[in-house]
Amino acid sequence: FGPQPLAGRHIIVTSGPTQEPIDPVRYISNRSSGKQGHAIAGALAALGARVTLVSGPVVQPDPPGVEVVRIESARDMLAACEAALPADAAVCAAAVADWRVAREADQKLKKEPGADAPTLSMTLNPDILATLSTHAQRPALVVGFAAETEHVIEHAKSKLARKGCDWILANDVSVGVFGAEENTIHLVTKQGVEDWPRLPKSDVAARLAARIAEAFA
Ligand code: C5P
Repeated sequence: FGPQPLAGRHIIVTSGPTQEPIDPVRYISNRSSGKQGHAIAGALAALGARVTLVSGPVVQPDPPGVEVVRIESARDMLAACEAALPADAAVCAAAVADWRVAREADQKLKKEPGADAPTLSMTLNPDILATLSTHAQRPALVVGFAAETEHVIEHAKSKLARKGCDWILANDVSVGVFGAEENTIHLVTKQGVEDWPRLPKSDVAARLAARIAEAFA
């Protein structure tokens, strides 16, 4: 119950990994914990926003006051985000799988005695951040993340242009971020770069929510 500068605003947040099915019992995924995305959803709700959190499978508790839409694959995440439009802002914090298996098997792939291991043919997943950035119902503010191990700012700047979003929160993942409690962020906008100190993910979330409130003020 503090000040509610985001009251009346609707914000979509993506969080967690996606799971890309191979067959009815197997999938490909990644190690995203959903900590940062869930913290952002909670921080935006705490400032009064109506938040739709579209999340892949995570063990994080649902943030209070947030509508959570649970999905598995990247295609489902995109469909859930589009179904949640219109929105004033979107924050894409999910670690979306870049590729999925081209053809999901209807039945469990069998390990036949003496047979070779199967070969998985992959295809590109949709880019949710880029799709929302160029959508007919584009949110006024679209924010993405960039996890880089080198040339963090340069890569974030080119990602901003390539994806068509407004802000990129760039972090150096060479220092260990996935599953960690802290994050070092450089906020890259068309106007310039803000270097944030190393902060707990909950403080990164609060700071981002405050910056978003400022942008809408
Ligand atoms: O291209 P890259 O994966 O480095 O971009 C990261 C940003 O793009 C993150 O904000 C992530 O949530 C978003 N993204 C997405 N859909 C994808 C891939 C990335 O929304 N298929």
